[in-house]
Amino acid sequence: LSRGIGEPDLAGRHVVVSAGGTREYLDPVRFLGNRSSGLQGIALARTAAARGAEVTLIAANVTLPAPAGVKVVEVSTTAELREAVVSAAIAADVVVMAAAPADFRPTSVSDAKIKKSSDGSAPSIELAQNPDILKEISQHRSRDGQVIVGFAAETGDDTGTVQELAVAKLARKGCDLLVVNDVSGGAVFGSLENEAVILSADGASTPVPRGTKAAVAHAIWDRAVRLLDGA
Ligand code: CTP
Ligand code: CA
Repeated sequence: LSRGIGEPDLAGRHVVVSAGGTREYLDPVRFLGNRSSGLQGIALARTAAARGAEVTLIAANVTLPAPAGVKVVEVSTTAELREAVVSAAIAADVVVMAAAPADFRPTSVSDAKIKKSSDGSAPSIELAQNPDILKEISQHRSRDGQVIVGFAAETGDDTGTVQELAVAKLARKGCDLLVVNDVSGGAVFGSLENEAVILSADGASTPVPRGTKAAVAHAIWDRAVRLLDGA
């Protein structure tokens, strides 16, 4: 049962949305990053505010303007994102991890700009795995009844189909809902439209037809509101 757009069914609720892509610095001017635009996260923040929520947007390297009436916390690295999400989650009824955290970071960050060597050799970069923020906040809930939503873009591979990988990821993370994008058809980054399936920890699966990121965001809030209401 979908609720009417504009109905303040998130009034009195505090929601936290992360958006964008983290950067992991090699030196003061270079980083490892990803192509997340932050558009879906911004659409989630805007639609939650329109539905009456108090919204905190944790923005990782997002260049687009934040929606009006939304509190913004700017972060850059995955470590900073983790700190901001864990601290904002304490007061949150819903946390949506729409950000794309870099999975790895260089084991060390050079204080000085890395220079080329005269013999033409290239340095190798040693990487360490970043903490899994979604898993951490799902497994150590700061509030009873808190709803935690993750995202997954999957292509499917020789270990499983998109659906199988997504079901396994939802269980591994321990979140309540997982918004799954099938990206096997090609790039979706920066696209204005999105298409998804919302998987629920109870096994339910809700298809969201191709539409704007705002329409996908409303479908996610519809599901989250049902969980908040205990349905
Ligand atoms: N996520 C997170 N912390 C990380 C990596 C991912 O909180 N260090 C969150 C993302 O914001 C997203 C969800 O976990 O909501 C799934 O991200 P994804 O990259 O698909 O999951 P990974 O566990 O990193 O798995 P993969 O090896 O498929 O990248
Ligand atoms: Ca990842």
